Amino acid sequence: MTDQQFLAALPAYSEPVSLKSAQGRRIRATIRRGLAHLVLRELLTSLRRGYRGRSPDDVKDYYETNYVNTGERAAAQHGEPGRRVFYRFLDSWIIELESRHTEAIASQIMGNIIEDIAPASLCEVGCGYGRNLLYLANRLENVRCSGVELAQSGVDVAHQLQQLDLVNTGYGGVYGFTERGTDNVRRTNIVQGSSYKLPLEDASVDMVVTCEALEQMQTGRDQALREIRRVAGRYALFYEPFADGNDWLQRLYLWSRNYFRTPVKSLRDYGFEPIGIFTHVPVKPTFAYTFVLCRVV
Ligand SMILES: C[S@@+](CC[C@H](N)C(=O)[O-])C[C@H]1O[C@@H](n2cnc3c(N)ncnc32)[C@H](O)[C@@H]1O
Repeated sequence: MTDQQFLAALPAYSEPVSLKSAQGRRIRATIRRGLAHLVLRELLTSLRRGYRGRSPDDVKDYYETNYVNTGERAAAQHGEPGRRVFYRFLDSWIIELESRHTEAIASQIMGNIIEDIAPASLCEVGCGYGRNLLYLANRLENVRCSGVELAQSGVDVAHQLQQLDLVNTGYGGVYGFTERGTDNVRRTNIVQGSSYKLPLEDASVDMVVTCEALEQMQTGRDQALREIRRVAGRYALFYEPFADGNDWLQRLYLWSRNYFRTPVKSLRDYGFEPIGIFTHVPVKPTFAYTFVLCRVV
């Protein structure tokens, strides 16, 4: 069963369905069966390949070819109807018509958390084509923003986006861009580089953030977390699939695909003191992300 077949097998509901209802329990059973199939498929693939995948080279190759859009196309696509994705949120199942809206919700929550901390500067490690980072730059106009991304193709798209009038694009509409933030978007320094050797001085940014990026770095997790700790002056904020936010089957899935799945408490081993955990975000069928805010120690 492929991921697409798994999603297609889920029924389409337009209204939230309570987890506790008979219908909700049926959906859960379908999801569990689908997930078990995916785990099995991944294990068979790993056996054939001889390793569980997601080596740094695999990740780079994948993302270099993933960011094929121009900036204009990427910005427009956010406003177009996308793939239906099934989510759980609090005690309901919901159909999210456009998965990109769910990403936007997570970015907005990240913006709320950062606004409270009010760092002077932030750096997003693994910022892709800047989807989350440019939103933060637009919203937090007094925060000096920067980003490091492994794939040069992602950096190129981000640079193109920075030159557009984003307020009047689908992306700007979904994320609520304002004219006021445009200067900070354009000032944002986005460079190609690796989390395994960040092109930054020690303690040179007030806050480091990651958004669905450590998930790709399980193989080099220790090095990536040490590097983030080295460059973070005061805080780090992670939005990643921590083990604690996932049940045993989801953790098995994360393991089978070699995704990041570290327990929150292990962050202490790398010099991070978790001071805030936020789990109220929509959860996709396969696994959940958790926000973890840390002070560096
Ligand atoms: C799922 S994407 C998320 C992108 C972006 N944070 C967002 O939310 O739109 C994961 C990103 O992490 C980047 N990445 C993976 N390994 C990396 C590494 N070792 N150093 C820097 N970036 C990396 C990938 O190239 C990819 O762009």
